[in-house]
Amino acid sequence: MDRTVTVSGHDDAFPVAAGNSVLEAALRANHWLPHACSQGTCGTCKIRVLCGEVDHGAADETILTADDRASGLALACQAKPRGDLTIAPVNDADSGRPMHPLRDYRGTVRELSDIARQTRRLVVELDQPMEFDAGQYTELIVPGSGVARQYSMANPPSEQRLLEFHIRQTEGGLATSGWIFDTLAVEDRIELRGPLGQFGIVEPQPEPAILIGGGTGLAPLKSIVRHALDTDLLPSIHLYHGGRREADLYDVEHFRAIEAADPRFHYHPVLSEEGWSGATGMVTDAVLNDFASCRGHSAYLCGPPAMVAAAVKALKRRRMSPRLIFKEEFSAST
Ligand code: FES
Repeated sequence: MDRTVTVSGHDDAFPVAAGNSVLEAALRANHWLPHACSQGTCGTCKIRVLCGEVDHGAADETILTADDRASGLALACQAKPRGDLTIAPVNDADSGRPMHPLRDYRGTVRELSDIARQTRRLVVELDQPMEFDAGQYTELIVPGSGVARQYSMANPPSEQRLLEFHIRQTEGGLATSGWIFDTLAVEDRIELRGPLGQFGIVEPQPEPAILIGGGTGLAPLKSIVRHALDTDLLPSIHLYHGGRREADLYDVEHFRAIEAADPRFHYHPVLSEEGWSGATGMVTDAVLNDFASCRGHSAYLCGPPAMVAAAVKALKRRRMSPRLIFKEEFSAST
């Protein structure tokens, strides 16, 4: 039986089907709630349950402590209503961003190619177009398991039918080693769910932007670069892509071609474990070397948590305002 969730201060309420989280139900009902990981590990989706009870599901104990639970807090991406609820988001729910409702999609694999060490490009043609913002992600459903894995779109939102994903292999991983790097083939049918996430850019920004990606953290940044240049959202963009070795870099020619054609765009590939003709060292050190001050700039960061943390530290050292630092952390999908 559906439960009903009312958001305090809003006139509307939305139904939650059995088994769905508060977040999934809200996004399916066109009601925005702040969220990032959708996996119970970041805390962005924290809500206060003003009336009613929830099952906290797999909420991480370090993100939602016993005290939090006792005081009526919950994670919307994990919480399943035990009855009708009244809730209030803890983080600002009025993002002002356009709402693209969460939907289920089906599509056909059009490209599956090796583009870097243990890294594949997957292009899926959807049966129906998906509206999304540059920087958002989608969940791919692993066949036969019902398990979902999250990958950012690398294509710009103007391309709503052909979604591009960059996927790094994890040894022994269910989705990567067991499917995408093993049995998946061009022309296979695939199930997806999206869009999700609030990383990225939707409106024109006055500040020049520094984009820093580690490994396949390049994917949402590639979407942001194309979208921002095509629609004039940023005055200039410096894209830093960090890898260990040259074999980890990909889409180098793609970005060099944009750089040659558009004076607003600057591309900086950086290697940490191998000498080559370009920059070497940690990708964040390359930013420190290039910018004496980052005051008046914004940043969009995507990569492993250690890289994101190092980048935030480096940018603050160079006087970037914390409110202009936007980040998406990921751990390797298995
Ligand atoms: Fe990250 Fe819910 S804990 S979105």
